[in-house]
Amino acid sequence: MAGRKYVQVGLGSRAKMYWGALSGDYRGTSDLVGICDINPGRLEMLRAKLAEKGLDVSAYAAEDFDRMIAEQKPETVIVTSKDSTHDFYIRKALLAGCDVITEKPLTIDEEKLQGILDAIEKSGKTVRVTFNYRYSPVRTQMKELMQSGIVGDVLSVDFHWNLDTSHGADYYRRWHRNKENSGGLMVHKATHHFDLVNWWISSVPDTVYAQGKRDFYTEKQAAFYGLEGHSDRCRTCPVADKCKFYLDLAAKPGLKALYLNNEEYDGYFRDRCVFSPLIDIEDTMCLVVKYKSGVLMSYSLNSFLPWEGYHISINGTKGRLEHHCQETVYVSGDGTTPGEMKAGDTTIIFYPHFAPPRNIPISESKGSHGGGDALLCKDLFGAEKPADPLGRRADYRVGAWSILTGIAANRSMATGAPVIVNNLVKGLEEPA
Ligand SMILES: NC(=O)c1ccc[n+]([C@@H]2O[C@H](COP(=O)([O-])OP(=O)(O)OC[C@H]3O[C@@H](n4cnc5c(N)ncnc54)[C@H](O)[C@@H]3O)[C@@H](O)[C@H]2O)c1
Repeated sequence: MAGRKYVQVGLGSRAKMYWGALSGDYRGTSDLVGICDINPGRLEMLRAKLAEKGLDVSAYAAEDFDRMIAEQKPETVIVTSKDSTHDFYIRKALLAGCDVITEKPLTIDEEKLQGILDAIEKSGKTVRVTFNYRYSPVRTQMKELMQSGIVGDVLSVDFHWNLDTSHGADYYRRWHRNKENSGGLMVHKATHHFDLVNWWISSVPDTVYAQGKRDFYTEKQAAFYGLEGHSDRCRTCPVADKCKFYLDLAAKPGLKALYLNNEEYDGYFRDRCVFSPLIDIEDTMCLVVKYKSGVLMSYSLNSFLPWEGYHISINGTKGRLEHHCQETVYVSGDGTTPGEMKAGDTTIIFYPHFAPPRNIPISESKGSHGGGDALLCKDLFGAEKPADPLGRRADYRVGAWSILTGIAANRSMATGAPVIVNNLVKGLEEPA
């Protein structure tokens, strides 16, 4: 084994993109030498799966993370655990002399972010945040168009993201449903959206004002559907047969193997009721954001809609660039390809001032997350490191600025006042 050495912590559904790449296409140039998780069942399942592929990868319990680093001596630690635990592993890895690749969001609040920034400064090591959306061809194309100056000087952005009653509802079943785990959808999900805006308009947020509420994933909505007397999880629910949100873990081999078979170890029930009173995240959010460049953005996120995708319009001195995208229906980890673009329902149209609109043929792509995952893996783990003229590789600054809009929004929703983003953390530069 002569490749760069990696260990991975957090072995749930998203983890597969990384261990799958390291045990598959990139084996030999990039090698997985250790895996770690809080759940012994998922840990052993992956160890055995890798062994079947002829790989002897050592498995460590979460409390043995330090021992994993000491024994395996990885160059890079991959963090794919629950959002609120990212900072703990990132700091530990950096201070042990490793570089880090982490899933989004970099972390969930300003205190944890400050801890990461301090550890980066102290260690001199790097943190890469894997924004797969940047790699999907149509979003890369939007960056190229913006870099070409198509809209002139950007003045404002209208951005509206819909999550549906399949993938969107799924956030209310799992750990994401509590802000202490995920930072709510403003951080957990919108980190992708705010990153795309920061990247496309080449700026960072300055002031954020937000309002949010939860009015759909509620007991009242359960009663509207006639679901009185529901239980706190689908598996034991007396009204499951009439619930459109019923998730049968036993019927989906992927969900059964990963979660149902291992719930005895940690009580992680993957099929919690989406109408539970224990949920404390919003489902309806509206923001006004002022960027350092002076751009004003109106943004909304609704997570209970009949289709999933987004509309964004970037308005400038030369015209308006409109991009629309609808994604396919799925539930994370159910074996369906996640976040695929729906064929024929993704468009880019440019409306120049004083001239007819132009339909811009889009870069079609297949595969998970708009075709971004495969390209991201190639960039992360491939032997060749291609040039990066569009700046798709996201470092800690990119990761930090992408969560600061959502962190500020959370604070604004709690206080009712606008939040100045610069005051949230110290020592953070703008992305290169
Ligand atoms: N970029 C994307 O498209 C994308 C998609 C899905 C998830 N994600 C991110 O990937 C990460 C994992 O999400 P997921 O959907 O796989 O969740 P998951 O619940 O399926 O898996 C999380 C894993 O982390 C483990 N874990 C929890 N606490 C831990 C701790 N303290 N120490 C070690 N392991 C711990 C759990 O046991 C579980 O195996 C999250 O940060 C999420 O935001 C990114």
